[in-house]
Amino acid sequence: MRALVAVEAGEPIDVLRLESRPVPTPGAGQALIRVAATPVHASDLHVLRGRYGFSPAFPAVGGNMECVGRVAALGPGTEGLRAGERVVAAAVPAVPGPPVDGTWQEYLVADAHRLLPVPDRLDDSSACQLAVNPLTALLLVTRELDVRPGEWLLQTAAGSTVGRLVIQLARHLGIRTINVVRRREAVAEIRALGGDEVICTEDEDLVRRVTEIVGPAGVRKAVDCVAGPVGAQVAQSLAPGGETVVYGALSTHRQTDPAALTIPLSARSVIYETKAVRGFWLNRWFGTASPEEAQQVLSQVRGLVVDEVLSIPGGRPFPLERFSEAVELAEAPGHGAKPLFVFADDQDEGHGQEAPARPRYDLGKTTAQMDS
Ligand SMILES: NC(=O)c1ccc[n+]([C@@H]2O[C@H](COP(=O)([O-])OP(=O)(O)OC[C@H]3O[C@@H](n4cnc5c(N)ncnc54)[C@H](OP(=O)(O)O)[C@@H]3O)[C@@H](O)[C@H]2O)c1
Repeated sequence: MRALVAVEAGEPIDVLRLESRPVPTPGAGQALIRVAATPVHASDLHVLRGRYGFSPAFPAVGGNMECVGRVAALGPGTEGLRAGERVVAAAVPAVPGPPVDGTWQEYLVADAHRLLPVPDRLDDSSACQLAVNPLTALLLVTRELDVRPGEWLLQTAAGSTVGRLVIQLARHLGIRTINVVRRREAVAEIRALGGDEVICTEDEDLVRRVTEIVGPAGVRKAVDCVAGPVGAQVAQSLAPGGETVVYGALSTHRQTDPAALTIPLSARSVIYETKAVRGFWLNRWFGTASPEEAQQVLSQVRGLVVDEVLSIPGGRPFPLERFSEAVELAEAPGHGAKPLFVFADDQDEGHGQEAPARPRYDLGKTTAQMDS
């Protein structure tokens, strides 16, 4: 089978190699998954650069987050799954926890409790992105901040996949959103998606605009995935006693100057206005949640997506061979669709076991975007 392997930590384009590897064998309580689609998240690239919150032992198969596929074989004593079942593998390694197989390969072995059955009517593009960004949006809004109907929620990078999901969830729950984007072209799109207010940092002052929208006291709840000076302005926009949850640091990506890796907060404002700035990391959440709780929240997310309350932006499919283009697209400004690695049935080399019949992957509208 084919696997995209990082031979060492480094710039993904330089260290990734397409390799042929034996199909792994599932152990007790595990399943072998024939991967259909798996996304290229920016965080997958940070793992390879050695700039993420954990580091695999190299050489390592890339893709540490999620995929969709079908159960090709079950290990001894594995219960609750059947061969051929379509599942999402939440491959996000729990911290602390054992390492998880990378997803950028045709087959992977996963613990049964990390697998979530998904119905065929959910297309591969949505299913393979179910376990990370929608789950993050749900946890941020409903658990980390417990935003109530009618309350304002300020968020940065509103055009990101997480940001779009936050907007949809907020509308569903009656929450009002203030959405920060960095490009004027993104404003109309965010409004069309249901964002109540949009601030464009290209030509607007974030702090002043928040005050105009919610009043001079400021906003009580915010989520930020940009960090740096934008994250500091979010903290500045908070009302006394307000809270911002930092879950990403997009402005620090590829930065090497230590000063560019910070959120420059005003100490006086944090102290005298008793503001809270704290982090959220899905890996740590998986590390503290019980398997039952993780399954329960994943099921909740699946329900929201299957019932079309949440619509996950369609990805752009790439065969594994075109990994350089996929990796470049993942971090390109204004990249829009998220790159996905997809595996066609006719490229299956077989794995010496009787595999169930598999329908061809269905990427819905996005299949048309696949270059020949
Ligand atoms: N903590 C966690 O557990 C967790 C879980 C999931 C995701 N995340 C984080 O959430 C963030 C979004 O992920 P995603 O998959 O939703 O992203 P995505 O779909 O790839 O979208 C990236 C978005 O970020 C914007 N952006 C990039 N660099 C920026 C910068 N320097 N300043 C302002 N905006 C910038 C882009 O705007 P343009 O359109 O203008 O290029 C784009 O809208 C990432 O930081 C990711 O690591 C964290």
